Parts: sequence; C-alpha cells; structure tokens
Amino acid sequence: MKKSTFYLLTDTHYVSPQIWVEGDPINNRERGDQIALKATPEILDAFFEKILQDDEADTVVFTGDNVNNGDRISHEEFRDRLTRLTDAGKHVYVLSATHDYCGAGDDENTFSACRYTATGTEPIPFLRKSELFDFYYDFGPKQAMRVHRESGSYIVRLCEGVRLVMIDDNGNGRSHCGLFADGMAWLKKELIDAKEAGEYVLLAVHHPVLPPWEVFRHMADYELYGGYRELYALMCEENVRVVFTGHTHVQNIRRYADDQGRFFYDVSTIAIANAAGKMRRVAVDADAASCDIQSVGIEQLAGETEGISSFDRLYPLNFPGIVEKMIPIGAADADGFLSLAGSILPVDKLAGHKRIIPPVCRKVQKIKLSSLAKFAGVWKTLSPAQRDTAKQTHLIDFIYTLLRHIYTGNAPYSPDTVENAVCTALAKKADRIVQRFRIEAIQKLIPPGSSLCEMAQDFLYNNRTGDDDAIWIELA
Ligand SMILES: [Fe+2]
Ligand SMILES: [Fe+2]
Repeated sequence: MKKSTFYLLTDTHYVSPQIWVEGDPINNRERGDQIALKATPEILDAFFEKILQDDEADTVVFTGDNVNNGDRISHEEFRDRLTRLTDAGKHVYVLSATHDYCGAGDDENTFSACRYTATGTEPIPFLRKSELFDFYYDFGPKQAMRVHRESGSYIVRLCEGVRLVMIDDNGNGRSHCGLFADGMAWLKKELIDAKEAGEYVLLAVHHPVLPPWEVFRHMADYELYGGYRELYALMCEENVRVVFTGHTHVQNIRRYADDQGRFFYDVSTIAIANAAGKMRRVAVDADAASCDIQSVGIEQLAGETEGISSFDRLYPLNFPGIVEKMIPIGAADADGFLSLAGSILPVDKLAGHKRIIPPVCRKVQKIKLSSLAKFAGVWKTLSPAQRDTAKQTHLIDFIYTLLRHIYTGNAPYSPDTVENAVCTALAKKADRIVQRFRIEAIQKLIPPGSSLCEMAQDFLYNNRTGDDDAIWIELA
C-alpha cells in the first residue's frame, strides 16, 4: 500500500486526576491558562474514540507537551492510554517537549512537577529529559527505521513511499529548541537518503518553524524551532513540503517560499486541551504525490451525560471564556466581577475602585461599532449596508469573537467586512500616533517594516493560506 491516513495530536497537556484535588490552587492555575487542565483525561478519551471509529486511519502521531508539568504519574497514565490505540492496531509515534520533563538545575527548563492540594502545591516525582526516550521507546523509536540517539529523533515509514521524521529537538527549555549540529547533519543525510530511495518525507517537530503571526517571531524568536533559518533552507533544498508543529497552541497553516520559489508549509495544530481543540487528519498517497490535511474536533467529552457540548463546558474555564462572562456579571455585581477576575486582572488594585465597576461594564456593553467607526474617521466611507451592520454590532461582541479565534484561527473579519474597515482605520490612526510621539513601548513590539495595521490583519481574518483547518499539498 502506498497510502497512509494518520491523526496528529499535539499539546495534550495531560493532567492526572491523581495530582489535584478541588480547590483554589488548581482552579487558579487553570483560569489563567487557555487549556482545560482538569478535563484533559476526558478530552483525550473523546479524541481517541473518534480515532478508533476511523477504520482508514492506521497511525496516530503526538508532537509533544504530552503532560503539563513533567510529572511521572501523568506520564504513566498518558502512556497507558496509548495502548488503547495500539491494541486497536494503530501505530503510535510520540515526541516529547519542554512540558514533558523537569529541569534539575542543569538546564533552563523551569517546570516543576507538583500535586495541587486544597491549599497549595507539593512536589511529586518527575521525569528528566534524558529519561523520555526510554520511557516512550515502544511508541516510535522501537518501530523506527533509524534513530538519532543524541536528540531522540527517529524516522518511521508511514507507508511505502512516505517517511515521517519525528524531530525530538535538543531543547534545553528556552534559549535553544532545535537540533544541535550533529542532529542537523543527521537530518540532512536522511533527507538525501529518502530522496535517493524515491520516498517523500514529512517532518514533525514540537516548536513552530514559521511563526503563527509576524508579531510572534518578533517578540518570541526563542519560542521558534531553534535554527529555523537553516531548516528553511534544508526543506527547500530537499523538497520537503510539510512540517507539522505544535507548541503555540494556534491552529495555523502558513507557507514559506524562498527566492527561487521553492516552498513548504508549516501546519501548526491547536492544543487538543483547548476548548475548541482539534486534531489533524492527514491522508498521504505516494502514487498521487498528495498530502490531504483536514481537522477534526470533538462534540462532547468522554463520559459526558448532560448533553452539553465540550466547547460550552470547557470555554468558560479559561481566561478567554472568563472575560466573556466578566462584563455582563460586572454590570450588576462588582464582587462577582472581582471573583471572576482573579488570576487575570490585578484584583487587589481594582478592589479599591469597586463602585465604578458596574457603570463601566454597562458603558462597555453599550458601545456600538458605529461609534468606533466615527471615531476612526471611516463612517463616511462605509456603504449603507456596512453602516447598518455597524449600528447593530456591539463592540464587545466583536472583541469576544476575536478572542474566540486567537487559537482556532480562521477569524471571520475579511477586508470586505465593516469590522475590518473600522479596526484597520483605528490601527492606522494608532500607527500615526506611535510614530509622531515616538512611543517606544509600542514601537518595540512592531517588527521592522511592519505596522500595527499590518499586524492586526493576522488576527482579523485568514491572510495566510485561506483556511487554517484544511489544505491539500502536492508532495512532488
Ligand atoms: Fe503546549
Ligand atoms: Fe510547548
């Protein structure tokens, strides 16, 4: 068979129910995050059920941050769960990343494994980076055609004609998350070997190769795959068309092309532990030289009996969903607002201004997009239909929608929408102010040659490949 269909899951951030009890420590940890930590077992099980229903899928790939804080109990439970897939005949290939181990003072990884008690946290046993290869040996290295032991990277054959290189980077936690020189030389040799064998190659690595947004590269270059420029050149040179990544928790498909027109795609996948988490379903066909990528989410958590959707159950747990609840509650109840705002806003400072919280929230709820359009100076340029939309649209709903799409991609405000027109005009106005008054705090956020206006487009609509959920890629 020269075909394979595999699922790719990333950033499962599995948290064992054995390492927390109900209380402020775990809840505050979860509220300030964008992943539903406590529900990770039910989320994972729901995704596995989907995979097990798909008879065409032969393989399941994980690209790291398997657990949340490197603790041994969560790793053991996560690994036990993988046998559900292997027992059903699926091949399972696992990478690990920075959340999967704890530093021991000899690297820059600052995660610490802990149990969340009712009143605080206490240390529990963890894995070191050097232990991960053996720990997950049965899920990848054991089936590999070749292994690069120094990094833990390995190569598996998905089907006749297609190889998958699982790059387990030499990340030391922060300042370098990529392969060292020996690993890069190994990768290059393997890509040439595959080419000579007439086989296509897909890459998978935890850290992003292309940034989800330009501002990400500018502000957090160290969060990208270390040595990404070298990898760009290698992928273009050796005609590798796809790299699958995770880490940013952002659903995002971007294309890179060099000055000779050679190109590849970085298919970055949202964390499955996000309320709107998805996995990729990838069908490769060596004869057709094609790689068809789709995305699959879940409707309900495993074991859910109340009929509530997984999104509705999980979204209010983390900060984007909490922000959505805060304004309506704050309009009537300052204390309710403050209790929701814990771990998100400086509650101590706000408590001194409690009286003004309800009127401010009510005011914020009433602002229409039309007011903003007039302020931005674009009202007269809008069509009658756009003006009607602006009069009917509350600013706060527009903000909620943007927040809902930060991690899911595919935000709906393309350049023909009134929301885009207003936001673009506001950003241009802000650009002029920042330049005129040389506001350094903002200037340093803007990548060279870019602008606030340009940066805003990344979040307003899909200015990338048109769809963050699906793409068809020719491998030849
Ligand atoms: Fe992650
Ligand atoms: Fe990560």
